[in-house]
Amino acid sequence: MKFIYNILIAFSLFIISANLSYADTSYEEKQTMVDVRQQAMQAMWSRLDRLSTLIAVAGDTVVSSDGSTIVIGSINKTQPLETYALIHAKEAKQDAIEISNLLKQVANFWPYHTSVSHVNSTNAERLVWILPEAFERYYTDSVEASNNLNNAFDLNDPSKIKRSVCMLALSCGKCHSAFRKVRFENLKKEGRGWTGSYTACWKYRNEITLNSSAIRE
Ligand code: HEC
Repeated sequence: MKFIYNILIAFSLFIISANLSYADTSYEEKQTMVDVRQQAMQAMWSRLDRLSTLIAVAGDTVVSSDGSTIVIGSINKTQPLETYALIHAKEAKQDAIEISNLLKQVANFWPYHTSVSHVNSTNAERLVWILPEAFERYYTDSVEASNNLNNAFDLNDPSKIKRSVCMLALSCGKCHSAFRKVRFENLKKEGRGWTGSYTACWKYRNEITLNSSAIRE
């Protein structure tokens, strides 16, 4: 009898301590973490979508800062970086720096208590917490790719810039294909970009298929 009694006490202590550790983070706090990481991702997205003007091929359409659509011509005499500032009313380099900062800001916004078991609004797959090392590796790929893009802008090297925009876009897409739930609305909203598949990037995609660490180079 005493034995059963002890087990009961041990069990209730376990339940209480488990409850206490959950009480550490309120529901609002968990919800806020998910909101913040989603907003950061959206902010990265709008910047990367502008940067994709730099890798646009003839015939592609880009949307300018006032919402009008511009078709990239086959004979384009303006330098891509000059066109960028004209179309988007912003410096490409600044967009690239902001993506880096955003990635770093939400790097630790993925604790277990923000999975779909705890916060309904998340589209993160449970796999994030089943394979945390893989998630981290993909995250670091993205951070490195965005650092490389900043370096390419510092060097003012057009071919490095182009390659780094592609590698960054591919790093976003690579993580999403494994760790973010695909919903039709997402695809409609974000189009081809959400997978990081830009026509101009196919050769870099082949490169990382052969050697996955090429994404960090
Ligand atoms: C290591 C994985 C990873 C990387 C790298 C990554 N994302 Fe995400 N992204 C996610 C996950 C997971 C979600 C779902 C988050 C949620 O709903 O809680 C997401 C969500 C998003 C969303 C939707 C946000 C919303 O409102 O629901 C956009 C847009 C997005 N990411 C863009 C990007 C862009 C652009 C990059 C690259 C610069 C990028 N992501 C890099 C994992 C990643």
